[in-house]
Amino acid sequence: MIRMKSLTCAVAVGLIACSSYAQTITSPNKSLTLSFSLSVKGEPVYQLSLGKKSVILPSKLGVELREEPSFLSGFTVARVETFLVDETWEPVWGEVKTIRNNYRELKVTLQQPEVGNRALGITFRLFNDGLGFRYEFAAQDNLKYFIVAGEKTEFRLAGDHLAFWIPGDFDTNEYAYSHTKLSEVDARIGRRVGEIFSKSVIGENAVQTPLMMKSADGLYINIFEAALVNYPAMHLEIDKQTFTLTPVLAPDAAGNRAYLQAPCTTPWRTIMVSTKAADILASKIILNLNEPSKITDVSWIKPMKYIGIWWELHVGKSSWNYADVDNVRLGTTDWQNLTPNGRHGATTARTKYYIDFAARHGFDAVLVEGWNVGWEDWFGKWKEEVFDFVTPYPDFDVAGLQTYAAERGVKLIMHHETSASVTNYERRMDDAFRFMNRYGYDAVKTGYVGRIIPRGEYHDGQWTVNHYVRVVEKAARYKIMVNAHEPVRPTGLHRTYPNWLACEAARGNEFNAWSSGNPPDHETILPFTRLLGGPMDYTPGIFQIKMSYYDPNRKEQVHTTLAKQLALYVTMYSPLQMAADLPENYERFMDAFQFIKDVAVDWDNTRILEAEPGDYITIARKAKGKEEWFLGAITDENKRTATAALDFLEPNRSYAATIYADAPNAHWEKNPMAYSIDSTIVTNETVLKLKLAEGGGAAVRIR
Ligand code: NOJ
Ligand code: CA
Repeated sequence: MIRMKSLTCAVAVGLIACSSYAQTITSPNKSLTLSFSLSVKGEPVYQLSLGKKSVILPSKLGVELREEPSFLSGFTVARVETFLVDETWEPVWGEVKTIRNNYRELKVTLQQPEVGNRALGITFRLFNDGLGFRYEFAAQDNLKYFIVAGEKTEFRLAGDHLAFWIPGDFDTNEYAYSHTKLSEVDARIGRRVGEIFSKSVIGENAVQTPLMMKSADGLYINIFEAALVNYPAMHLEIDKQTFTLTPVLAPDAAGNRAYLQAPCTTPWRTIMVSTKAADILASKIILNLNEPSKITDVSWIKPMKYIGIWWELHVGKSSWNYADVDNVRLGTTDWQNLTPNGRHGATTARTKYYIDFAARHGFDAVLVEGWNVGWEDWFGKWKEEVFDFVTPYPDFDVAGLQTYAAERGVKLIMHHETSASVTNYERRMDDAFRFMNRYGYDAVKTGYVGRIIPRGEYHDGQWTVNHYVRVVEKAARYKIMVNAHEPVRPTGLHRTYPNWLACEAARGNEFNAWSSGNPPDHETILPFTRLLGGPMDYTPGIFQIKMSYYDPNRKEQVHTTLAKQLALYVTMYSPLQMAADLPENYERFMDAFQFIKDVAVDWDNTRILEAEPGDYITIARKAKGKEEWFLGAITDENKRTATAALDFLEPNRSYAATIYADAPNAHWEKNPMAYSIDSTIVTNETVLKLKLAEGGGAAVRIR
């Protein structure tokens, strides 16, 4: 690691008072320029530009406190340091084998002479592809415990950019994206979305982060955050006159945003920017701003592919609940004597069928939902004691299935739907994890459907944000990997907790089973937004596209072609990938299923070949430790030809390529299941032209 340190602003006896101070730094390759200054009122101000183009116009920084003078103005500069960092590190799993962390840091220590010289630090890290900055509260005599009433960070944009947004909502991120100019955002549409179970829409002008934007002069700008711990998630309020964005933080039941104790820091605020959309997808800023792994022995953490008793529940073929009764109660209900409804999915026999299928086709694991008592009245009751996470239904033989799965080399994945009763889960987590250890489960899918208990808290508030982290920390102690559904969206914490394999935290494929679904451009936007924070358990691989197959009266359908479902294994990065459809459906299309069997889940290298948010993405990835590449290309509702120059292959070598593509007459709505499979020989001079149908895609295996 090269760490060059240069103290600027004459630091003589430690402290200096510069008012109307200004300092400029550039990114390591000099493409980005960051200026920091103090206004005449002693307000901290920053601005960011890429070459001659403004990314952030002069914007104020500050934090408002509830019971003490705020950190907003009256500052002088006490100390300034700048230095360069250039280092590389290896993630436990990921899209690339090594990650370069290269930035210039500007660390400003401010003081408020009128508040007893109380200090506030602001640290900026300027990368070649963006900026991260955070507030730092040092240990000091006149700041110990404090309550954040609001964050006054501004992001003053240079124009009325095109934005890819979902409504600001403290409880859910399961929306489809809108694309409008910032001035045309009306986030109240969130209130009319009927298919999300607990919503807390903030208001007309509030949107979620990551917020992806495109300027009229060709800049791709993304505003987000990294390392969200002990603080609420950042939503953004848009001022439609000045195109200034400011944070909206989820309050707690008492109306406060965060309870902090110095020394401490806020999460990083990030601004990624480039003239190329592909650079946003390739950016490693979020990971670089997170702390290294806190888990030292990572030998038990493994990327994996799984199937599960899951999609059949969502399409209504079977049920989570065992009995069709209401009003059950942990500790009182005699589950053995309930009358089964005859549709229960998680039976021993059905689980064995999935285990056999997994073993036959080389899958690592089988998820089973609905195995445990409580599903009869889990939904919408705001009830505290719903599940105990250790009592199976009478028709699910935990011990027998442990042996059956182990004999076939397949793992079972545990399911803990908390129904958002977080208090209940926290009380029972140790027992639940011990139960998992006893029965050989090493991964859990958690879920937070519903309104949070403790009542008055939100999914995105400080208390609940800390809960998700407590779960992965505790899980690590039991050597358990975590896949969280309905948590706050991730912010790169999987670097620090590599057992946190994936989250849902966005509108997943499941919506295609029972709602108006995900529009054909959805998967071209997610990598520019939600996936910047970490892997998503999107659950691709649905082959039976139209739900009328299960019931002629049903209109729902997946809004992609079958071939695009294959491409998602490459375009939607995750170390945990589900083959989400029913085994019976895969049996009908074994030739296409071969791609899902073959595709890797851990990578040495990733190349973003083409990308435009809302339109298309083409990505190639090299399987970890193998001379084998997988390529995925997807498009929105428009057909297109994806172009993939294979110049990343080794020179002077021939490779066998298997191309899974849309059939010439395929169309996401009219003819979604028509595909073709072709084999050809390619070299590093080949340029593949892949024809993608409307809402279609293509997947290629190259070896
Ligand atoms: C919502 C999750 O996203 C889904 O995967 C799960 O099956 C249900 N909740 C039930 O827990
Ligand atoms: Ca969900």
